[in-house]
Amino acid sequence: MSKFTDQAYLKGEQYRSPNNLNSRIALHDLYSTASVPWTTWVYQHLAVGEGQQVLAVGCGNATQWQANAALFPNSARFDLMDLSIGMLRSGRAGMGAADWRFNYLSGDAQDLPFQDARYDRVTANHMLYHVPTIELAVAECARALKPDGLFIAATNGATHMVDLYTLLEEFQPGFRIPDSDRRRFSLQNGWDRLTSQFAEVRLDLYESDLWVTKGQALVSYAFSLWDVEDDISNQKAAAMLDFFNQKIAKDGGIRIRKETGAFLASHLPGLIDSLGILQAEQKLP
Ligand SMILES: C[S@@+](CC[C@H](N)C(=O)[O-])C[C@H]1O[C@@H](n2cnc3c(N)ncnc32)[C@H](O)[C@@H]1O
Repeated sequence: MSKFTDQAYLKGEQYRSPNNLNSRIALHDLYSTASVPWTTWVYQHLAVGEGQQVLAVGCGNATQWQANAALFPNSARFDLMDLSIGMLRSGRAGMGAADWRFNYLSGDAQDLPFQDARYDRVTANHMLYHVPTIELAVAECARALKPDGLFIAATNGATHMVDLYTLLEEFQPGFRIPDSDRRRFSLQNGWDRLTSQFAEVRLDLYESDLWVTKGQALVSYAFSLWDVEDDISNQKAAAMLDFFNQKIAKDGGIRIRKETGAFLASHLPGLIDSLGILQAEQKLP
């Protein structure tokens, strides 16, 4: 089994603490070329109303929720769920236990411990590709969503970050990050998985690349990945930093193309448009 879907590895190592995820988020935060931060973009797509019930499946360390906590209505309630207790602990510590709108619970996306049609919003952001049986998780999210609710599944496309993977291959000839894992639930194939459970599906793309002007964030990002952790010795971190910094010194920076977005889905045709969420121009190949 690939580490990518190995629940024991995900829970016990990769996401035991938020360190790996934070290294990846930091690179995007520091060097994104987007006009709005990712957390703002997600907030704009959630459109959470007064008194609504929200479920975040695979919430990680609640970065998206913390960033927007002050903007959500006081009367809304949020159940933040993750496989990893370490992620939940970190999320609660960051949010502050005093914000009683947020409730933290551990669980598996494939078997949600919630009654049918309970939530106005269900999110499964950047996590479905980790789930062993994606169909089960999507069916569970659809079951927990109200008839007039909105489901959001953010994910990446097939070319996301490949410029970095090409550089890693140049740094260590023969090293390759396989694309099969990343393509399990992608911007290209997610559509088919969602249309079997929802009456309406829409894909919105997040326009952004990276222009990286310091090598350290790239090294931290690289060593947060399971493939790099397995195949490139940690002792090479200094040499990798040198490798990136030389390229930056020559060209002023390193451009890394991203391919990210979110599927919006609903049981009720017309619901997504009625929420007035702005759709960016679509350029998916
Ligand atoms: C890449 S992180 C994304 C976190 C968060 N949604 C975000 O966008 O910042 C993936 C998260 O999914 C969680 N996860 C993986 N498999 C899961 C499953 N079967 N059920 C619930 N959570 C899972 C991991 O523990 C991890 O916190």
